[in-house]
Amino acid sequence: MKTLIANWKMNVGIRESVALARGTLLTVRGRKVIPDLIICPPFVALAEVRKVVARSAAKLGAQNMSWEPSGALTGEISSRMLQELGVAHVILGHSERRHQLGETNEMIQKKISHAFAESFTPILCVGETKEQRDVGEAKQIVRTQLASAYSEVKLYDNQMVYVAYEPVWAIGTSDAAEVPDVLEMHEYIRTILAEIFPTLPEENFHVLYGGSVEADNAYLLLRERQVDGVLVGGASVRLNHFHKIVDACVDVLEAQQ
Ligand code: PGA
Repeated sequence: MKTLIANWKMNVGIRESVALARGTLLTVRGRKVIPDLIICPPFVALAEVRKVVARSAAKLGAQNMSWEPSGALTGEISSRMLQELGVAHVILGHSERRHQLGETNEMIQKKISHAFAESFTPILCVGETKEQRDVGEAKQIVRTQLASAYSEVKLYDNQMVYVAYEPVWAIGTSDAAEVPDVLEMHEYIRTILAEIFPTLPEENFHVLYGGSVEADNAYLLLRERQVDGVLVGGASVRLNHFHKIVDACVDVLEAQQ
């Protein structure tokens, strides 16, 4: 199975989200094999998008979540609120939140622990900056982010671990990472996950790539065994682009059957 995550970020309002959700569902309609599709609209559009995806196989995801279940935290969104909206997947630790909004590894650790405790499936984003890669620190950074995020987590055998490897320099830049570099990092991430969760079967680890995924590189990434899916930002709000990414994914899945 391959997973496609559409991260609409802060790019669409409520009405646009509804139209985009309808269009996104059309991109998978009538396919022989359907990728696992997780749509992550802005918070304010979750309720309306939920109605659109209700009778489809697509899942609804959130782009962030507080580590507190409720309380005096102006502007935050809690796990309970998201549960009321039927959300089970949540992106945590996205690099835009780490680098532009000051999220630390410690905050992300609290969010990840809370998400698992509340039966969410968190999608943890990890990745190095350009400077860190240039000085050969990419793997160490990713190792630290993973070890920190999962440091307080104990999982059952049936729980899934989703990690999106998103090099910061590749996000929104049209400069996606090269496939061999992605594969090397994905192998490394799997090794670390196996160290952190020694009792979990390997199939429970889902390692996705994100960062300037487009129609032209989606196939090259998705056809690789080590790439369990892609997290798509910019191209997920442009339906003609997303449609081609779905095409690529379906081609890969059909070839694997
Ligand atoms: P991008 O964003 O596809 O626009 O690079 C990916 C992400 O930030 O998740």
